[in-house]
Amino acid sequence: MERLQKVIAQAGVASRRKAEQMIQEGKVTVNGKKVTELGTKVGLNDDVRVEGVPLERERKVYFLFYKPRGVISAVTDDKGRKTVVDFFPHVEERIFPVGRLDYDTSGLLLLTNDGEFANLMTHPSNEMDKTYIVKTEGIVQRHLLKRISSGLKLEDGMTAPAKVKELGIDRKKNRSLLEVTIHEGRNRQVRRMFEAIGHPVQKLRRDRFAHLTLHGLNAGDYRELTAHEIKQLRTMAEAGSSR
Ligand code: URA
Repeated sequence: MERLQKVIAQAGVASRRKAEQMIQEGKVTVNGKKVTELGTKVGLNDDVRVEGVPLERERKVYFLFYKPRGVISAVTDDKGRKTVVDFFPHVEERIFPVGRLDYDTSGLLLLTNDGEFANLMTHPSNEMDKTYIVKTEGIVQRHLLKRISSGLKLEDGMTAPAKVKELGIDRKKNRSLLEVTIHEGRNRQVRRMFEAIGHPVQKLRRDRFAHLTLHGLNAGDYRELTAHEIKQLRTMAEAGSSR
């Protein structure tokens, strides 16, 4: 048995707080009866409806996927391009990506059918770390890396301080190899940060999400998260929001 607001949030209808509000406003019924008590618990066999619409009560699933380049982080694509969900032909649950990676970015992407979990992982105030391996055009001078690590101005505002580690310099190919960790998730953020210092990104791969890595996976592979990993991620997100 689970609390009604949690069940509604997990089904992806609304955040837990919004779900509480909907219950109090009398928009939720359980087995045909209006319920306005927040403490109410429901089981899998109870018929829960929000504004008359039955909740989808699928088993919750959580995957760690190594997204290849040239794949779109969406469930469908109107241009017929390959989507991340196409790599899961045998998964019956209606999964979707948690946040997104650009078409040309490879690396670690979580997929789930748990809307509440996805919100927790992507909400900016939860500050989940994302680590990228970046190959740049040209060799990046230290003082420019400092601008990335201190935070710099983009068209949508200042970026938060980032962790930057120099992994190597390829003088022959004239490029730097860097590891960059950010906890924000703005659109094309890493690419825009490097454009801002005059060194566009040549190649981008997300290597880590929080403490999770791509260890043991090749591009296109996935594995299920363990119950322990899911719990750790939730705990980290909740700790992040109280920082
Ligand atoms: N930053 C980017 O620029 N692209 C991504 O896909 C992820 C982060």
